[in-house]
Amino acid sequence: MKVVAFNGSARKDGNTAILVNAVFGELKKAGIATELVQLAGKKIRGCTACGKCFEKQNNRCAVKGDIVNDCIEKMLDADGIILASPTYFADVSSEMKALIDRAGFVAKANQDMFRRKTGAAVVAVRRGGAIHAFDTINHFFFINQMVVPGSSYWNIGIGREVGEVKQDAEGLQTMKTLGENMAWLLNKLNG
Ligand SMILES: Cc1cc2nc3c(=O)[nH]c(=O)nc-3n(C[C@H](O)[C@H](O)[C@H](O)COP(=O)(O)O)c2cc1C
Repeated sequence: MKVVAFNGSARKDGNTAILVNAVFGELKKAGIATELVQLAGKKIRGCTACGKCFEKQNNRCAVKGDIVNDCIEKMLDADGIILASPTYFADVSSEMKALIDRAGFVAKANQDMFRRKTGAAVVAVRRGGAIHAFDTINHFFFINQMVVPGSSYWNIGIGREVGEVKQDAEGLQTMKTLGENMAWLLNKLNG
């Protein structure tokens, strides 16, 4: 089994990545393969509303020249998908929203192709807006008929400068519990 995570932060290996790795730790203990795709520095644009995904129905986005089709392939290949983002102006980053809109539209054009995969949101935040970002990500999972495990708190970790999130003991514990629950659910669904 495999879980792929997408880190929407503009900062590679920052707080969001640290939180994802805390979830990965528990998945790995359960023998689940993991891959982290960091969007930082990569080309990614928003949906152009061309509707070609609905015309062609080939599991692909018609916009070429960026990483979205690679990301969609990785999502299709995985049993579980983590969408992780820092909080930017009380929502996900632009890069994460671009991925949500484009992968989401392609999935809707192709019979909800992520249906019954497991999904989890991970959010880093300095102070406010994390719940809104968490909700944005969960909207993607639920409209795609995905199955979402919970944790002991909503999946957020608090920190500003890189590494500060490691001081948020409750946030890290939330991520570990999420990893345990995600592994449990993946085994129930695919084991
Ligand atoms: C453009 C921008 C907007 C931000 N907006 C918020 C915000 O609305 N609320 C908040 O608490 N933190 C905000 N932050 C802080 C980040 O969410 C925080 O530093 C987070 O830990 C960054 O994660 P990263 O290290 O993975 O990039 C913002 C940061 C940036 C760069």
